[in-house]
Formats: sequence, structure tokens, C-alpha cells
Amino acid sequence: MVAVIKEHAFPPEQFVKPSANPLVRCEGLVKWYGSVQALTGVDFHAEPGEIVGLVGDNGAGKSTLIKILSGADTPTSGKIYFAGKEVSIRSPKVAMALGIETIYQYTAMVPAMSIARNMFIGREPLTGFKLGGIGIMDQKSMVDHATKSLTNIDLTQRSPNTTVEELSGGQRQAVAIARAMYFKSQLLILDEPTNHLSVKETNKVLDYVAELKDQGIGSIFISHNLHHIFPIADRIVAMARGAKIADIRKSDTTIEALTDLIV
Ligand SMILES: Nc1ncnc2c1ncn2[C@@H]1O[C@H](COP(=O)(O)OP(=O)(O)OP(=O)(O)O)[C@@H](O)[C@H]1O
Ligand SMILES: [Mg+2]
Repeated sequence: MVAVIKEHAFPPEQFVKPSANPLVRCEGLVKWYGSVQALTGVDFHAEPGEIVGLVGDNGAGKSTLIKILSGADTPTSGKIYFAGKEVSIRSPKVAMALGIETIYQYTAMVPAMSIARNMFIGREPLTGFKLGGIGIMDQKSMVDHATKSLTNIDLTQRSPNTTVEELSGGQRQAVAIARAMYFKSQLLILDEPTNHLSVKETNKVLDYVAELKDQGIGSIFISHNLHHIFPIADRIVAMARGAKIADIRKSDTTIEALTDLIV
């Protein structure tokens, strides 16, 4: 009974509608995993440079939605438009080519490889020389660019040759964020990036996301902690049981109202 009243607090006709030119827009996304329906027909959008906080209870469908946007999974049905064109995001490579960068706390990097190598994973610059027909990676260029990027994000005390396994959770996030900055991604997706981070590291990650916004790079930020998302978000989207239950500008709501909705 209480749940019904809560969901009516944000009726669908009051959901924020996309502008004429959203960066990404999904229409009627449905996802079945066997007999489990993870998404029941979700409309979602993000404007260029906008920070969207994605919240909701365990199993609500948040990760499923962003896996579809990052090419890690494909929808059962529904449409996705990126910069006005309908797209089929078949793989993470396709997503990256569009300018969608995704950060999962531990899986987006290869721990045993250096910061520099991790920055360029899948997009390594080549020297122009070939060995047995295979291009040779330009190690120097990777290290030079990584050094510059690390300076930008304030990780200068670390050499680009440091392996990622020696970094803290927050520092790993910073490398991933440096990667998004370097490749001029248009949209950064972060799925629970602040899990297991210290307060200080969490604040750093939140600062980076806000900084990316200043550079025109938008984010979709999933977190269970509204106190992390709320200060930096422009808009909050809440999900429950595979559906969107709220889509509201931060300026039109409060942490208290949202907390009531999702817990
Ligand atoms: N690979 C999969 N196979 C089967 N079921 C899945 C799979 N991935 C997700 N699901 C199911 O889909 C539903 C939505 O899961 P999803 O991971 O999107 O939730 P979530 O909102 O990210 O939750 P959490 O906050 O716990 O991370 C859940 O019922 C989940 O069990
Ligand atoms: Mg999840």
C-alpha cells in the first residue's frame, strides 16, 4: 500500500522529457534474461554534458540499462539513438567509438599492466613500423600522453609505468577518468564507482565527474548513496522492478523525497 502511494509521488506524465537534441535516448528498452524481465520497456535519455544520477533498489535494472548503453549486453527489444542517429551498440568497442566510456570499479582495467598501457587498452598508438606484419605499439607516446593526463587529474606522484594493482580504488578510478578525458569521450558511465572507496577518494571521484562536466562531458552515475549523487547530479532517474519510477530535475526535488521513494 505504502509503495503504491510512493510511486504516485512522481507520475510518468511529469517525467523530464528529452530536449530536441539529447546525446543519448532510449525508447522502450526491454531485456529478458531467461524468464527474468530486467527491463520492462524503459525510456531514458541524457543531454550533452548532463550528469544523471541513476538510483533504485537492488535488482531494479540499473546495471542492465547501462550494460546496454555500454555495449556489454544487448536489449531484447527497444531503440537507442546517439546524437540523433539510431545505433546498435553491439560491443564495448562500438560504444567507445561513439564516445561512451564505462567505468566499473575493478573490471575496466588490467591490474598487472601499467597505468600507461591501461589508458590505451584497445586503442594503442602504433609506431608506424611493423614486425612480422604486426604494428609495433608506440610505448613512448603512450607514456608521454599518460604523464600529461596524470598531471591533469592530480596523480602526478605516480609514474605512468606503475602497475594498476599498486593503485588504490580511487586512483584506479582516476586513471579511467583520465582515459575518458584523453579520448574526449562524450558520455561517461559509472556503475557504483564509489563502492569500497574511502571518503576522501569518493570525494575525488565526484570532483572529477563535476570537472568532466565543465569540459562538456556528461555522466550517468549509479550509486546506492544519494548523498554521493545528489550534490553533483543535474537530474535523478529512479528505477524499481525494471521500470522508471521517477525522472526529475534536482532543482525540483530533495534528498528526503528521493530517499522516501527508493527505500
Ligand atoms: N546475466 C544475468 N542473468 C540473469 N539475470 C540477470 C542477469 N543480469 C541481471 N539479471 C537480473 O535482472 C534484474 C536486474 O538486475 P540489475 O543488475 O540490472 O539490477 P541493479 O539495479 O543494477 O541492482 P544492484 O543495485 O543490486 O546492482 C535482477 O533481477 C537480476 O537478477
Ligand atoms: Mg547494479
